[in-house]
Amino acid sequence: MEYTWNDIQQHIAGCTQCPLSQTRSRPVMGRGSHQAEIMLIAEAPGGEEDRQGIPFVGRSGEILDRLLKDCGLSREEIYITNILKCHPPGNRDPREEEKAACFPYLKYETFLLKPKIIVCLGRVAAQRIISPDFKITRQHGAWICRKNCALTATYHPSAILRDPSKYEIAREDFCEIVRKRDL
Ligand code: URA
Repeated sequence: MEYTWNDIQQHIAGCTQCPLSQTRSRPVMGRGSHQAEIMLIAEAPGGEEDRQGIPFVGRSGEILDRLLKDCGLSREEIYITNILKCHPPGNRDPREEEKAACFPYLKYETFLLKPKIIVCLGRVAAQRIISPDFKITRQHGAWICRKNCALTATYHPSAILRDPSKYEIAREDFCEIVRKRDL
């Protein structure tokens, strides 16, 4: 059975597959262009995203928007989603069982989008998508190819908020992502 974007949205809206469904205000579905060549995958919605039901609307969203703008990208031409669609209380790391419960949604999003490039934002996404022992500090900006899709990772915007010196590194990674898209 093949799902549509609408089907997935409805499944996520009513999802009770893990205990986060009891503590969330609202689930946060991925957003952006369904024709996007670039898919960003982050960790999980933060508090502001939980209130609004939209990814990256809080302070890390401001950093993300600056990074995109600096490289000539806009949210309208990419697709942004998270490993978890629901906010973990206190912004704790996602638990294994939560990631496993939520993973089918990400698989459907990826299947429908068929991105040319997947960018993992931060350790949690990179370890789930690229490799369990991925080290952001050493391996950000490196590329692998899987099923006709180029995968890379860079710093999560919240890591940049904690350490602004990482901004320039992430900016360079993003500019390379745009170059790769345009090859
Ligand atoms: N941090 C994330 O990982 N995802 C969001 O949507 C917002 C903040």
